Amino acid sequence: MKVGILGGGQLGRMLLQAATNYDVTTYVLENDPECPAAHLCHHFVKGNINDYDAVYNFGKQLDALTIEIEAVNVDALEQLEKEGVKVYPTPSAIRIIKNKILQKQFYADNEIPSSAFHVTQTQSDLSKFTDFFPAVHKLGEGGYDGKGVQVIDSESEIALGFNAPSVLEKKIKIKKELALIVGMNPKGETITFPPAEMIFDQIYNLLDYQLSPAKIHEKQLWKAEAIALKIVNSLKSPGLFAVELFIDENEDVWVNETAPRVHNSGHHSIEANYSSQYDMLWRILLNYPLGNPKAIMPSAIVNIIGAIGFEGDVIYEGLDEVLKMENVFVHLYGKKKTKPGRKMGHVTIISDDYQDLTYKAHKIKNTLKAKA
Ligand SMILES: Nc1ncnc2c1ncn2[C@@H]1O[C@H](COP(=O)(O)OP(=O)(O)OP(=O)(O)O)[C@@H](O)[C@H]1O
Ligand SMILES: [Mg+2]
Repeated sequence: MKVGILGGGQLGRMLLQAATNYDVTTYVLENDPECPAAHLCHHFVKGNINDYDAVYNFGKQLDALTIEIEAVNVDALEQLEKEGVKVYPTPSAIRIIKNKILQKQFYADNEIPSSAFHVTQTQSDLSKFTDFFPAVHKLGEGGYDGKGVQVIDSESEIALGFNAPSVLEKKIKIKKELALIVGMNPKGETITFPPAEMIFDQIYNLLDYQLSPAKIHEKQLWKAEAIALKIVNSLKSPGLFAVELFIDENEDVWVNETAPRVHNSGHHSIEANYSSQYDMLWRILLNYPLGNPKAIMPSAIVNIIGAIGFEGDVIYEGLDEVLKMENVFVHLYGKKKTKPGRKMGHVTIISDDYQDLTYKAHKIKNTLKAKA
């Protein structure tokens, strides 16, 4: 089979690493010929994933297509689907998810628990909803990595809001953030991975590391799984989806958002689960039986983020020391240049002992630095 991926970042790279186990010819469409996935696919095609002709011409030679980012030309995918190319996730699922207004409407229509919201067209619309604050304003399209998300606690902060179509969500008092990966094959069979929990830096409120399986009550796990399954069953789309969830102060579970693709929160599954999220997506794309998503061992992920104050050709400080650590797996994404905040790689730790995971996660964070 000939399978194409739209986008050539680290998610595409790790997806291609898993492809080498199967009989598949891989294609990547991406503008940057030096992107992380460029050298791992059989055929690299330079082109803009947002351009109709680029996506259509890339896809029409293929049996199946998937994405590693949702900012793609959905019209072209829709046409390809009509012409018989398998597009997983389906173009209609991507269309709903890539726009946060449509996504929130989808949760409401399908009675999937998500915070209450209003739609705004301009910044001044916010003044109609002063009774609704504290709230979170989210750009309908074009946000990424938290850019396009603005907390508005009171009327005095309206000027921080977006002057473009957006959703205004009720601010949830978050106790824990989870991510749960769910997969559906073309027959409609589903699997759920054990959820991961995000551990935030108390001082900077930045993601510190992730733990999986998340330490949550059994009822919360059931609820999170039920929500994730309801999302894929309502989207009616084969593919792999990452559902971001909140547990609030009352221990209730809410969906934040869904990503229609492999996800940062599932990197650990390469070493820590029987079938990784990447392996699972290949099984879905190639119409093979689903894999076993269970954890072999608990794990943690530490992201390697470009250090503040350094920009240019990357140098990894502390790499030897981390590579010497037991049950620690380093993944560098092959990006030549670093800049503050850029995702340069990640490290997975596996251990039966959550204390060991926490200890090593902190140690790695303080040892391994992407500098220039
Ligand atoms: N309704 C809400 N109430 C409280 N906090 C929220 C709410 N929505 C989002 N947040 C906070 O903002 C973060 C980013 O929001 P969201 O996931 O919607 O944005 P994003 O741009 O897709 O970010 P990312 O790419 O990091 O996932 C969440 O992880 C959460 O910490
Ligand atoms: Mg998010």
